[in-house]
Amino acid sequence: MQLQNAIVLVTGGASGLGRATATRFAKAGAHVVIADLASSPGVAVAAELGKNVIFSPTDVTSEADVLAALAAAEANFGKPVNVAINCAGIAVAQRTISKKGPHDLAAFQRVLNVNVAGTFNVIRLVAARLSETEAGVDGERGVIVDTASVAAFDGQIGQAAYAASKGAIAAMTLPIARDLSGFGIRICTIAPGLFKTPMLAGLPEQVQNELSKTVPFPARLGDPDEYAFLAQHIVENPMLNGEVIRLDGALRMAPK
Ligand SMILES: NC(=O)c1ccc[n+]([C@@H]2O[C@H](COP(=O)([O-])OP(=O)(O)OC[C@H]3O[C@@H](n4cnc5c(N)ncnc54)[C@H](O)[C@@H]3O)[C@@H](O)[C@H]2O)c1
Repeated sequence: MQLQNAIVLVTGGASGLGRATATRFAKAGAHVVIADLASSPGVAVAAELGKNVIFSPTDVTSEADVLAALAAAEANFGKPVNVAINCAGIAVAQRTISKKGPHDLAAFQRVLNVNVAGTFNVIRLVAARLSETEAGVDGERGVIVDTASVAAFDGQIGQAAYAASKGAIAAMTLPIARDLSGFGIRICTIAPGLFKTPMLAGLPEQVQNELSKTVPFPARLGDPDEYAFLAQHIVENPMLNGEVIRLDGALRMAPK
């Protein structure tokens, strides 16, 4: 599928990897809906990216919000969303047990709810709408890209909740690809290593340098546009489906 004239939903598109994806895709001629929390800078980001980009305030865990974002895309761009990039996500750092006692259960459930149920909520609603559309070249109707993390495979101390959520995103990639194959909808997951998004860019330079040294090659933090570049390739390469791709410069995270 070509990005030119594609209708793309980017969750978490107001910041970091999602913002970089919205930026790259809009430059390539796609129409983009940034679906991010009402409290995010989504309005300003959409305005900055130009007339092919709109913002729809969305909590990915809400069916009504996601349906509203899909409707906004169709109303503004005249066609349903045919590409969804799931970047919305949250993290928590807490050990299974600590001096404060056992891991807070509500915090564990919140991370699972946003990262897993939120991602799946978007997938199921986008796929349902796409299944009603006419197929294009190769019988293809649409492409979905999810975002896991290297924590899905080598989660660190304090990452039980985050790693569980990212492991679930990785694990559901193949069964969803199988579920949607009859409809001509592909899905792949990117598992990023360390990327220079607001979260990491806010750390002191010395800490950033220390983190960079843990990456074999290139020994630096990833540029969010490098994530967007892979998302673009997944959209454009019709043979990529059902796969989880690490994007990490050969990084394998240490216990801490
Ligand atoms: N930055 C990294 O190094 C890195 C590494 C591995 C994985 N990831 C994953 O990539 C994704 C993006 O990370 P980032 O670094 O760009 O983070 P970020 O915090 O810069 O952006 C995340 C965005 O998601 C939005 N969001 C949070 N909860 C939401 C909800 N319920 N509904 C809609 N939007 C919501 C936030 O408002 C924010 O704009 C996350 O899933 C993260 O776990 C990031």
